[in-house]
Amino acid sequence: MADATIAPPALDIDDLTVCFDTQEGVAVAVDGMSFSVGRQETLGIVGESGCGKSVTALSVLRLVPTPPGRIAGGRVLLDGRDLLALSEAEMRRVRGNAISMIFQDPMTTSAGGSRRIRISSRAGCGSA
Ligand SMILES: Nc1ncnc2c1ncn2[C@@H]1O[C@H](COP(=O)(O)OP(=O)(O)OP(=O)(O)O)[C@@H](O)[C@H]1O
Ligand SMILES: [Mg+2]
Repeated sequence: MADATIAPPALDIDDLTVCFDTQEGVAVAVDGMSFSVGRQETLGIVGESGCGKSVTALSVLRLVPTPPGRIAGGRVLLDGRDLLALSEAEMRRVRGNAISMIFQDPMTTSAGGSRRIRISSRAGCGSA
């Protein structure tokens, strides 16, 4: 007989929207991203350079540099717990314990470099 208790997905992203406020306007880096990852599951996200893979992962850990970045909407549930609602102190306890990130390029991640910016007037991000 099936267990009446249905466990939440390990990670559940719902309608995540992340913007960067730039001098040229609001750049929408992640636009309504939704996916779920269950226990024992592996998810690969594939897309062209600049499509928002890293910003999505950084958002899950709440490591998007703010400003200029900001999570403009959506939910990030880890084992059913809303990470976007946690205090920074609570989030520090989550990072490295419940969830971690292996950075793509640790030598240059925080060093900037050239970036492709898409300007959008999407209402969900407001104006810069
Ligand atoms: N600090 C920032 N300021 C402005 N725009 C940014 C910033 N960081 C990221 N972006 C923009 O967010 C978008 C998504 O970038 P992201 O780094 O997530 O792409 P990616 O899919 O990981 O690309 P790659 O495959 O090259 O690693 C890009 O358009 C990028 O220019
Ligand atoms: Mg990347």
